[in-house]
Amino acid sequence: MERTPSKTWRIAVLTSGAGRGSNLQALYEYFKKHSLPVEIAFATASRKDAPVVQLCEKLNIPCYILSPKKDKDFENQLLELCQQEKIELIALAGFMNLLSSSFLEKVKIPVLNIHPALLPKYGGKGMYGMNVHNAVFASDDKVSGVTVHLVDPQYDNGPIIAQVKVDISDCKSPEEIAAKVLEIEHQTYAPVIYQFLCKYYAPEK
Ligand code: GRF
Repeated sequence: MERTPSKTWRIAVLTSGAGRGSNLQALYEYFKKHSLPVEIAFATASRKDAPVVQLCEKLNIPCYILSPKKDKDFENQLLELCQQEKIELIALAGFMNLLSSSFLEKVKIPVLNIHPALLPKYGGKGMYGMNVHNAVFASDDKVSGVTVHLVDPQYDNGPIIAQVKVDISDCKSPEEIAAKVLEIEHQTYAPVIYQFLCKYYAPEK
């Protein structure tokens, strides 16, 4: 039976400067369509001209401009925001930087990431965007997919929560792989986050 919501979980979505924000939009739409008790309380982008900023305006989600590179106290500001906003989970969606172990310890909530390949393959420093799909295309792999994992202080390294595979044997270019994988990302992240929240915050029996 579907959990009877007694409250709404508040999550934050961190993005970068160049991201399309398509995962952010897919999360928003899925929670809304299924009337799930999950609210994107805020998002972050690293530049005010990031496409995500306009998207957030459209969706009425507060978007803070916070840059891990330009703002020296990025992690402290983020920590403060998460505490003020009573955030219960952080979802990275195109966030390009590492979070330190000190931040992860202090924030005391789960941080999830979505990666456009089947980790541990095609992960790590420099493995983002088309770099991932180019590498997959150059391999003999007939299958790629999506990984949702818990974030630790290394790139694409924390415990895997969910993986979904996709057949790419008919893909004739890295772009075709990218499009197939992105579609799966949009179907995967929101339900995985919701199920994770249900389990993580389940009342102890
Ligand atoms: C996605 O491919 C995600 O897996 C990766 O960054 C990309 C963000 O895309 N971590 P978008 O901005 O959500 O469209």
